[in-house]
Amino acid sequence: MALWGGRFAGGSSDMFKQVNDSLPFDYVMAEQDIFGSIIWSRALQKAGVLSVEEQQSLEQALSDLKAQVSKGEIDFAVSTEEDIHSFVEAALTETLGDTARKLHTGRSRNDQVATDFRLWCREHLLSIKQDVLQVIKALLSCASRHENAVIPGYTHLQRAQPVYFAHWCLAYVEMLKRDLSRLEDLLVRLNQCPLGCGALAGTTFPVDRYEIAEELGFDGPCLNSLDAVSDRDFVLELLFVASTSMMHISRMAEDLIFYNSGEAGFLSLGDSVTSGSSLMPQKKNPDALELMRGKCGRVFGNLQGLLVTMKGLPLAYNKDMQEDKEGAIDTVNQWHICLCISVEVLDSMSLNEERCRTAAQQGYANATELADYLVDKGIPFRTAHDISGQAVVAAIAKKCALEELPIEDLQAIHPEIDSDVYPKLALEAVLNKRNILGGTSKEMVTKALYLELERLDTLLA
Ligand code: ARG
Repeated sequence: MALWGGRFAGGSSDMFKQVNDSLPFDYVMAEQDIFGSIIWSRALQKAGVLSVEEQQSLEQALSDLKAQVSKGEIDFAVSTEEDIHSFVEAALTETLGDTARKLHTGRSRNDQVATDFRLWCREHLLSIKQDVLQVIKALLSCASRHENAVIPGYTHLQRAQPVYFAHWCLAYVEMLKRDLSRLEDLLVRLNQCPLGCGALAGTTFPVDRYEIAEELGFDGPCLNSLDAVSDRDFVLELLFVASTSMMHISRMAEDLIFYNSGEAGFLSLGDSVTSGSSLMPQKKNPDALELMRGKCGRVFGNLQGLLVTMKGLPLAYNKDMQEDKEGAIDTVNQWHICLCISVEVLDSMSLNEERCRTAAQQGYANATELADYLVDKGIPFRTAHDISGQAVVAAIAKKCALEELPIEDLQAIHPEIDSDVYPKLALEAVLNKRNILGGTSKEMVTKALYLELERLDTLLA
């Protein structure tokens, strides 16, 4: 039965129920709705609306219902209730009759849904935080397993300069650290309690909003009732933080897809996260990585969708806002799956260190070194850049590496080049010269890796 029947002579059409009902997706907030109702019943009792016995029987019935929900004993799909709030009230009414009909005193589904969804988002964001930490852990253990591995670093997808593989891992760790800090930041703004704001103007019953907020684990009550019932910034922020995090996961996936390709051959992915082709027996496809990349489409779309939904809404509540749920619920599910599968991908891949090293030595990735060498000899960088470019052309013509050019050839290009240039062009020398904070020298990368391992230990403790 609808919660609002009195004003109506006729019932809802089937099509209206299809467009209007949210129980098919908002049932996921059942536990939050029950938690909110328990705290509301306590507030009503303290405000003198419910007797102690009434409150106790409500709390008992609500707790029993919660236990049934968490055991998965309730089949929401067979219910014809409009939404989770109506569902919970109907279930209570069935066991308690008139006492249950007192629970909604002074409350509206508007402050109720805003509270429930904040609780739902909070709970899921806290578990996403743990997922992100697990990805950081997997990246750090990848880096530790391959401390000496070197890969080509790219710009424009052209070999640019060599970097330690651990440096690549740590680059993604930095991105994930920012994602974590965005998550924490969002959790602070989200953690304000709308309950007690009524439909839009505040409740008439003398409940203690500070106490309600505290009991629900919020930092405090929302300060304006109109805003409290119509604000969905927290959902938008969640979608933005999810989108940015997924964008990072997607870029990592893209790198790994390329590293795993036959052309690069830097690594091979585990059997458990790849699939075969129905036609070509030799294939082993990076499906998990492709889906980490592909699922960004719907997640970014969910952010865009809710922004558009919200932009023209007058204060306060409008039913348009019910559209905040499906996209956010889907986003959180996909986000969780992608973070978890990226851990499996990282844990199960194996790096071909030899092939990586060979690739890092190809493509004239040490040409900058030759220029820097000439700079040390007092030649202006712009000139040195030009000379090194000529050396690259000479090496290409001879089909050899820069360091394989005979000294006569180098000196023909510029007389200042001496045989002391060769050790400087060697791979390790190129890497270790970048011994500056944030650079890819062994010393810097090792330091960064140990710092992050320590940080992670404290975060996981
Ligand atoms: N299912 C609704 C939602 O998700 C609950 C609030 C209904 N409020 C109302 N005034 N009809 O937004």
